[in-house]
Amino acid sequence: MLSFAVLFFFCLALVERGFSTPLFRRDNTTTTAANGTTPLTDADIQSLDLVNIAAFAAAAYCVRAGSWDCGVACNQVPDTQIALTIGDDAATPDAPPAYVAYSQSRNQIIVGHEGTDPSQILSVENDVKFAPTPLLTVLNVAGTPAGVEVHNGFQTAWVQTSTTILDAVQQILAQVPTASVLVTGHSLGAAVSLLDAIFLKQQLPSNTSIQVMGFGRPRVGNQAFADWVDSMFGDKNGFVVSRDDPVPHVPLLDQGFVHASGEIWIKDNTTTLSCAGQENPNCSDSIGVLDAATGVSDHTGPYFGIDMGHAPCVNLEITTTISGTPVTTTAAQITTPFSTALIIRTEAPTSKNSARSVGVTMGGVVAASAVALCTVAGTFFAL
Ligand SMILES: *[C@@H]1O[C@H](CO)[C@@H](O)[C@H](O)[C@H]1NC(C)=O
Ligand SMILES: *[C@@H]1O[C@H](CO)[C@@H](O)[C@H](O)[C@H]1NC(C)=O
Ligand SMILES: *[C@@H]1O[C@H](CO)[C@@H](O)[C@H](O)[C@H]1NC(C)=O
Ligand SMILES: *[C@@H]1O[C@H](CO)[C@@H](O)[C@H](O)[C@H]1NC(C)=O
Ligand SMILES: *[C@@H]1O[C@H](CO)[C@@H](O)[C@H](O)[C@H]1NC(C)=O
Repeated sequence: MLSFAVLFFFCLALVERGFSTPLFRRDNTTTTAANGTTPLTDADIQSLDLVNIAAFAAAAYCVRAGSWDCGVACNQVPDTQIALTIGDDAATPDAPPAYVAYSQSRNQIIVGHEGTDPSQILSVENDVKFAPTPLLTVLNVAGTPAGVEVHNGFQTAWVQTSTTILDAVQQILAQVPTASVLVTGHSLGAAVSLLDAIFLKQQLPSNTSIQVMGFGRPRVGNQAFADWVDSMFGDKNGFVVSRDDPVPHVPLLDQGFVHASGEIWIKDNTTTLSCAGQENPNCSDSIGVLDAATGVSDHTGPYFGIDMGHAPCVNLEITTTISGTPVTTTAAQITTPFSTALIIRTEAPTSKNSARSVGVTMGGVVAASAVALCTVAGTFFAL
């Protein structure tokens, strides 16, 4: 019944692969390190807009029903009006919640996708469907080149909200045709964001500027997909990896999944590197999957001072069904679960919300114990 197939990945050796398609993010204020990385200064981080973009990604965990009032993340980018919130209901059981908003001061339409809190991606409760063998299908977007394949679970999540989001973005663009578009999200939301950005790129006027930035983004597709993303977006696509976060390392290279270019690796609290090309071995790929597995709490950040997940939200309540009894939890009570040694799930989830909340606790607990087993015994134990 419970399956934690993703944990299997942590028990496999990281397979190094060749490096291809240099696409270097140059910056006139920094010096390029000999190993294909560029340290980012605080000024660089400001000019790349990373704090605000992280806030838009974090807000996706918090904003509900039209109100841009969620605490730290919303306060960071206050001049924002919600146009649409979707997801988190029976109509989109496999899709993370999302919002579409407009910032007048940025003249920008923002699409934000909620991810996992804090590591739902480690749980199949949300139907992400990681498996030891790849689940690749052709991306359902017109003009997709032959050979492009993406993760089936991410595509399943994305198609449930893609046209609703497109409609909302088009409605705003009809009023403000010069607006740019930013698509962002964390974790599963980062994977969905990338698929969304491709779809918007195909559907919106060609002169509309589209940027996509993911935080804690897992690998989304194969080599042809990564090359396609690079050719479409160049440095308008990026993804931030926090320290030893394991999520960007799954699904594995060995399974045929490859990140596009644009990695920004927060190596530690003092060093952030912009990384040349795809899968640069001198950035987060220098962390082995087994080592990364111990860094699972890094998944929530902080990303340039912004934490991802429900915990930082205000005004958010989540109802969980445990043994048939609804239990309402406020955001503040949903703290990082990795130190929690409780398994509270006693029955199959009856709604998206129950899957989410219980998955949080289960994912954290089981991830921690399974990783310990892997490290000690070098063997995966089905739980
Ligand atoms: C360096 O980059 C910054 C921000 O991207 C820009 O404002 C500035 O004009 C650039 N300076 C030069 C000399 O190109
Ligand atoms: C990684 O670092 C090594 C040693 O400094 C260097 O030879 C190699 O070119 C770097 N890789 C990339 C992709 O920049
Ligand atoms: C794109 O072209 C349309 C139609 O010519 C125009 O109304 C719009 O302002 C343009 N958008 C940008 C960002 O320049
Ligand atoms: C890094 O920063 C985080 C958040 O500010 C803090 O909790 C952590 O202790 C810091 N780690 C180190 C090694 O200084
Ligand atoms: C590449 O250089 C940067 C900056 O000096 C350093 O932080 C990073 O650890 C290096 N990567 C590897 C794999 O040595």
